[in-house]
Amino acid sequence: MVRKAVIPAAGLGTRFLPATKAQPKEMLPIIDTPTIQYVVQEAVDSGIDDILIISGKGKRAIEDHFDRNVELEAALDDEDNLANEMRRIADMANIHFIRQKELRGLGDAIYYARQHIGEEPFAVLLGDTIVDSVIPVTQQLCDIYDQYRKTVIAVEEVPHEKVQRYGIIGGKPLSDTLWELSDLIEKPAPESSPSNLAIAGRYILTPDIFKTIEQTKPGKNNEIQLTDALRLLLSRESIYSYKIEGKRYDIGNKLDYLKTTVEFALKRKEFAAPFREYLELLLTGDRS
Ligand code: G1P
Repeated sequence: MVRKAVIPAAGLGTRFLPATKAQPKEMLPIIDTPTIQYVVQEAVDSGIDDILIISGKGKRAIEDHFDRNVELEAALDDEDNLANEMRRIADMANIHFIRQKELRGLGDAIYYARQHIGEEPFAVLLGDTIVDSVIPVTQQLCDIYDQYRKTVIAVEEVPHEKVQRYGIIGGKPLSDTLWELSDLIEKPAPESSPSNLAIAGRYILTPDIFKTIEQTKPGKNNEIQLTDALRLLLSRESIYSYKIEGKRYDIGNKLDYLKTTVEFALKRKEFAAPFREYLELLLTGDRS
């Protein structure tokens, strides 16, 4: 059973400058909720209540967000239930923090979790992806893990010309949604890509990964890549990939972030009707 999750959140967020000059990119809101809260909620909805956030310089706002703010709660009007909501956020899970001292890549960030994780399998949720699904994606992966007891990586199909933005897997299909891997490669050129199945920012890892991270040399961008450590692991044991059910929102770039905001606003009860009306008028040019 998977009881712990790791959320790497130490990155600089250079793709969102200047917004991220003095605030963590994980705190950028989709409407009124910081993206990292959606990610923590997914872990919690998947039955995980022990979460380690890999933090770093300039990330203190994340700690404050998941802490109590007694003065704020006292100042809020009880009527709109906001004070309760603020308390709920602080009580969502047991959230721990550790700081990545130098930004040496995703594999290196995960390595900071080794003591906290010990000898258990654990989930990894990248903060720049949120997924809208009936069954939380991490739960979907946990179900596969419970069957095979091996590393499971979430994947989704991407257009072939976009493979160089992702880690890409290759493998033998076991069903329409499950593969046993034969290869995985970080950001391949389209002509040498093993498939168009992209690593989708969610993993179930086992403590074996820590040994292979130790043995992994810097790869793409001169960083210790998690994908490279997984590739080394694949030479020793089986790894599975599961095509997630749900819609993935990649909020790591500005255009997709905008799309996510619009879609989430259209799904929110209080905005759905007036926002749709506004967009329709805007797009048909009839702005009276
Ligand atoms: C990271 C991983 C990559 C994965 C991607 C998903 O890349 O290294 O394998 O496909 O997340 O978002 P990054 O987006 O940090 O460059």
